[in-house]
Amino acid sequence: MLLPRRTYFALFVLSLFTFCNCDYSKNPVPFSKLATCQEFDIDSNRCLHFFPIESIKNYKTKEYKLYLKFYVMAWTDANIVLFDGFPKWKVRYTVVVGGGGGNKYSWLRDTNDTIVGPESHLTDILSPLWPTPIIVRQKINGELDISVPGVADPLLITDASDLKETKSFCLYAWTNKSRWFYNCTEEEDILLDSDDNST
Ligand SMILES: *[C@@H]1O[C@H](CO)[C@@H](O)[C@H](O)[C@H]1NC(C)=O
Ligand SMILES: *[C@@H]1O[C@H](CO)[C@@H](O)[C@H](O)[C@H]1NC(C)=O
Ligand SMILES: *[C@@H]1O[C@H](CO)[C@@H](O)[C@H](O)[C@H]1NC(C)=O
Repeated sequence: MLLPRRTYFALFVLSLFTFCNCDYSKNPVPFSKLATCQEFDIDSNRCLHFFPIESIKNYKTKEYKLYLKFYVMAWTDANIVLFDGFPKWKVRYTVVVGGGGGNKYSWLRDTNDTIVGPESHLTDILSPLWPTPIIVRQKINGELDISVPGVADPLLITDASDLKETKSFCLYAWTNKSRWFYNCTEEEDILLDSDDNST
């Protein structure tokens, strides 16, 4: 059976998008997606706004007590900080994606700012031009993992069993402007409904 030439071309282009590991196709988040989200913009090297955990969709399951999904547009050092309290807290975990002086490596820090778990040396995860998805999950047993869908799953992982419950978080990019998107319309939204049914 012969397929029209155009179909071959379409398949060829499709395979490029599927297999090419170049920057453009690495994070193929359509911009139309962002129209479904809440946006938070910040230009600060530290936490300025503390989000109560209730202000974001949490795709909790039997396996995960925390499951948050963000998209970020930033040059470098996207920081997500999780706290066990709001407004007062005792335990804190800091996620740094695409840091190390320009999108060079990623790591997790505990309350004492000690690096925990293996660092990731994946480069060019972030871009100010396209959104990078970041998933922050914590299992019931305390294991915290960070993934960048389509790039690294997990990107970072550590035992964070001293973080019993995340009650608030903050977002910023060290030394740079950043745009954050959350509460988007996601496939995972179905988990919110099933959670409602079970409670
Ligand atoms: C985000 O979604 C959650 C869960 O649906 C909701 O409770 C919260 O109000 C939303 N946040 C904002 C800022 O609208
Ligand atoms: C942080 O440091 C203090 C004082 O050195 C220590 O008691 C505590 O166990 C440390 N906490 C973590 C999470 O490492
Ligand atoms: C953000 O980072 C880029 C790349 O390191 C730099 O060129 C730019 O000046 C920075 N912007 C600000 C506002 O610091």
